[in-house]
Amino acid sequence: MFEHVENYPGDPILSLMDDYQRDARSEKVNLSIGFYYDENGQVPVLTSVKHAKALVDAQPPAANLYLPMDGHPVFRTVVQSYLFGELSAADHSRISTIQSVGGSGALRVGADFLTRYYPESRVWVSDPTWDNHFAIFKGAGFEVNRYPYLDVSGKSIDFERMLAVFESLPVNSIVLLHACCHNPTGMDLSPEQWDTLYELFRKHSIIPFLDAAYLGLGDGLEEDAYSIRALAQSGITGLVSNSFSKVFSLYGERVGSLSVICESSDIAQRVAGQLKGTVRTNYSNPPRHGAELVATILSNAELASSWRAELDAMRKRMVEMRQALFDKVKTLNPDLDVNYLLEQKGMFSYTGLSAEAVDRIREKYGVYLIRSGRICIAGLNSSNLAAVAEALSNN
Ligand code: LMR
Repeated sequence: MFEHVENYPGDPILSLMDDYQRDARSEKVNLSIGFYYDENGQVPVLTSVKHAKALVDAQPPAANLYLPMDGHPVFRTVVQSYLFGELSAADHSRISTIQSVGGSGALRVGADFLTRYYPESRVWVSDPTWDNHFAIFKGAGFEVNRYPYLDVSGKSIDFERMLAVFESLPVNSIVLLHACCHNPTGMDLSPEQWDTLYELFRKHSIIPFLDAAYLGLGDGLEEDAYSIRALAQSGITGLVSNSFSKVFSLYGERVGSLSVICESSDIAQRVAGQLKGTVRTNYSNPPRHGAELVATILSNAELASSWRAELDAMRKRMVEMRQALFDKVKTLNPDLDVNYLLEQKGMFSYTGLSAEAVDRIREKYGVYLIRSGRICIAGLNSSNLAAVAEALSNN
């Protein structure tokens, strides 16, 4: 019956992680998947999360019922403030927010919703982007195209070329953007560029879809949220997906959210209903525990501020690692241009290394990068810096 089922080629990021686990070398270094690792190479359990868990566990036992289709009600409210900041009550009511199964789940529910109302539209993703963006939107039935993101040197954003492509798109085209900490390049738009983009989208009736998996790990929470908050203020309709995997170190809980910014609260209510319907036909309702942890932290001023401090510490450690790797490479090979390490932001840096060079580095040094040349900065620590600097300097 299933004789004709072809092999799944695997996901480029998750398959590489499997290869890393199988590698028997003790000196191997994992700079592949976007996990935040601490100085000891461990994925941390945040102290704020431990406290939230203690509070959740101290609640009198209750029947383990389903959450509503759109998720935990307190979670949905606090997440709106986290993403959109201080909005008037009227503005909040224009935004429909649902809890999702991680950031990927938010992207998929958003894609399924869009394909129902804009089946003729095409989706545009940056070149390069996170591989799964293609698969998710294609899986929902869209044709997915790329828009240029970098100039020919691959070292900076080519904003003019991006704008020229967006200007030529048919109305109701869907443009996927990284809200901050662009994955894989670590190169983000400035606030002025976001404003210019939204103005163009308004004129050309383009639907932006912002993916925010690393909010707060670039320049800080408020700074990184500029793209999202400016979208909400711009008067255009758009979608925002976000993930709590990295910023709360809650990978396995699969907790995220999807927001749809609408023109009026009346439309937002109907959209909310359709999002619920989309959830119901996919997985019925989201899991409870991760949302309870995030809701407990974000609704408690003390816990929220201790989580913010932990988020800032993660961000600062990555900035320090960027500088330390830069310094070490420069000592080994002063002529090598590694300015990108200092210029790019967030969890990733884009080395410009070819896929062949990445393969050589993996075989020779046991240092694992994504074949696009992306390194996960959070995988660096003082014990593996020298090996990584050596691999980057002599490949
Ligand atoms: C990444 O890009 O490495 C992360 O977003 C993890 C993933 O699911 O691919």
